[in-house]
Amino acid sequence: MATVSPTDTNARPRVLLTRRIPSSPLSTLEAGCELDLYDGPTPLTKDILRERLQGMHGIVSVLSDPISKEVLEAATDLKVVANIAVGYDNIDVAAARARGIVVTNTPDVLTEATAELTWALILAVTRRIGEGERLVRRGAWKGWALDFMLGMELRGKQLGIIGRGRIGRAVAARASVFGMTPVFWRGTLNRDSHQQGGQSTLNVPEVSLDELLIGSDVISIHTPLRPETHHLIDRKAFARMKRSAYLVNVARGPVVDEEALAWALKEHLISGAALDVYEKEPEVFPALLELENVVLAPHLGSATRETRTAMADLAVRNALAVLNGQAPLTPVQS
Ligand code: DGY
Repeated sequence: MATVSPTDTNARPRVLLTRRIPSSPLSTLEAGCELDLYDGPTPLTKDILRERLQGMHGIVSVLSDPISKEVLEAATDLKVVANIAVGYDNIDVAAARARGIVVTNTPDVLTEATAELTWALILAVTRRIGEGERLVRRGAWKGWALDFMLGMELRGKQLGIIGRGRIGRAVAARASVFGMTPVFWRGTLNRDSHQQGGQSTLNVPEVSLDELLIGSDVISIHTPLRPETHHLIDRKAFARMKRSAYLVNVARGPVVDEEALAWALKEHLISGAALDVYEKEPEVFPALLELENVVLAPHLGSATRETRTAMADLAVRNALAVLNGQAPLTPVQS
């Protein structure tokens, strides 16, 4: 743990920063407040948060920080929670609102990076990149063969997108490059999508969840975690999918029932899956680790140097705006 102390602390707001951020937004934050940087081992627990938030006016948090009702109740001076993430399921937004605390997130700045990672995973799982790489590394590759490790071509296939916010739309916008036809699940309203706002310029058909599950060759999840999307993809959903289908999840782990996914993969109800997010990060459901037909990435959706810097910068500007009596740039609406 380390405390960054400004030279003049008079009348400056106090902010808890729960992870070290790139130097440019860190300097901006240091210049605008009295900063307490938590540099300790992860994960940051509710108890540590309750203690460190005493007397704090703001917190710049990350998606693994549990900002629960109890944590907020202990933070009697808190005015703003600026999450460095577009998702904010780690924050009890209703409890924050009830206490007059502003919650902000980081939409837009991570859209392209997350859409790119989605396509990396779609390609990796349909062309068996992880499986092939493991085989080469263990010295088991016997050489080129006509029928060796065949995957699925994307051209002419349907891409079912669950979540038609900015990321879902950015994924859809790239579908034509691969000759895929995107469809959106019509059950996800913009306010429910992983990122809010923005107008769609895409002419993508909207279908029911059942139609999407039955008709899609690749299903990609971009919806936020809410009570109504928890285990949206369960045993029943897998039973509806094509046996040749692939599932990709870069949204939030609990949208997919991991035990049901392992079952569906083992029983060959679907062909494969690629995950960037997990129900209990950083734990992975053990049965998934044993399977060849699943690609497992360590929550890398927004993990580019450019995007992570932009996310931290936006969160810092949100926190400082609220603490200086201005409107936040990207407040959470719900
Ligand atoms: C987010 O911002 O919610 C992403 O999951 C971060 O990678």
